[in-house]
Amino acid sequence: MTNAFCKRFGTSNPVVLAPVGGVSSPELVAAVSNAGGLGIAPVWYLDPDGLKAEVRRIRSLTAKPFGVNLNMDFRSEAQLEACFEEGVEIISLFWGDTGDFVPRAKAAGCKVIITASTAEKARAAVALGADAICAQGYEAGGHVEGKVSTMALVPAVVDAVGDVPVIAAGGIADGRGLAAALALGASAAWIGTRFLAAEEAPVHPTYRAQLLAASEDDTDRYDDLYDLSWPNAPHRALKNTTSKMWEAAGKPALGQRPGEGDVLAHRQDGSGIVRYTSASPNAVFAGDIEGLSMWSGQGVGLVTKVQPAAEIVAEIIDQARKIVTF
Ligand SMILES: Cc1cc2nc3c(=O)[nH]c(=O)nc-3n(C[C@H](O)[C@H](O)[C@H](O)COP(=O)(O)O)c2cc1C
Repeated sequence: MTNAFCKRFGTSNPVVLAPVGGVSSPELVAAVSNAGGLGIAPVWYLDPDGLKAEVRRIRSLTAKPFGVNLNMDFRSEAQLEACFEEGVEIISLFWGDTGDFVPRAKAAGCKVIITASTAEKARAAVALGADAICAQGYEAGGHVEGKVSTMALVPAVVDAVGDVPVIAAGGIADGRGLAAALALGASAAWIGTRFLAAEEAPVHPTYRAQLLAASEDDTDRYDDLYDLSWPNAPHRALKNTTSKMWEAAGKPALGQRPGEGDVLAHRQDGSGIVRYTSASPNAVFAGDIEGLSMWSGQGVGLVTKVQPAAEIVAEIIDQARKIVTF
């Protein structure tokens, strides 16, 4: 299976492991790349040494292409330099103004993928020099900038960007979703929630159990529910005791929300995680995991079992091939 995306990024299939901040691992990224897809590692919350170590670890596990993901709301010179020093070949940028990162990454020989939530933003990203657009629809899990559904967004972006490959994101969890994305003109699917059930993803068992039990109706998109540590960044997560408590109180603003200041859980280093913090429940967290920000896309109803990442990729490709020809 080769198409515009595969040719540009050197993969043998069009499945992209979305960067899933806080619950990714070098093993997960490498497993997807080794399975012929493109693994993308979220590194935007690592210091330069941690970023370099993450890249080296991935490289020790795969000789195949992989990418890293940087958050433009926390744009960091040091992170970009660390990527260059490590010879990172593919950089994904999301959320906000990319500053001069695109021309600099291009000048350093990197391929750049920019996440966009409207056709207009996709056009602007292409004008900056993006090598591909990740079109992220409203269904997506985690932080979601736009309000347009994947079904409406992908063809609009495809029409806007000409020959530039478009990667569809949001609500895609199986081969039917990949086939639909390809039918809409995308040349790959960017999949997050489904990979939270990969064996290699360090997802807390409580979070994982909630994901496996959830239906397509069990998520909601919030403007600012989990805004501690990352304000003004709308997101989609599983409904939980925290969201229900806040809704029952009339959805009050920051400063008046029920349970503010409650330390729900702790990280491995002993630091507390307060209710309403933006934090993906990692396997090493301890405490009331259910009350935390359990990011999830609407495709979660299709996530029903824990599997090795390579098996997930193979299943998605096999199922898509029965529907559309590549
Ligand atoms: C747990 C989790 C963490 C995420 N972290 C990031 C991130 O660090 N960077 C990013 O660009 N997108 C992040 N996203 C969004 C994904 O990259 C992707 O757009 C989304 O998962 C696609 O929708 P889906 O979950 O329905 O597959 C995250 C999503 C989830 C579920």
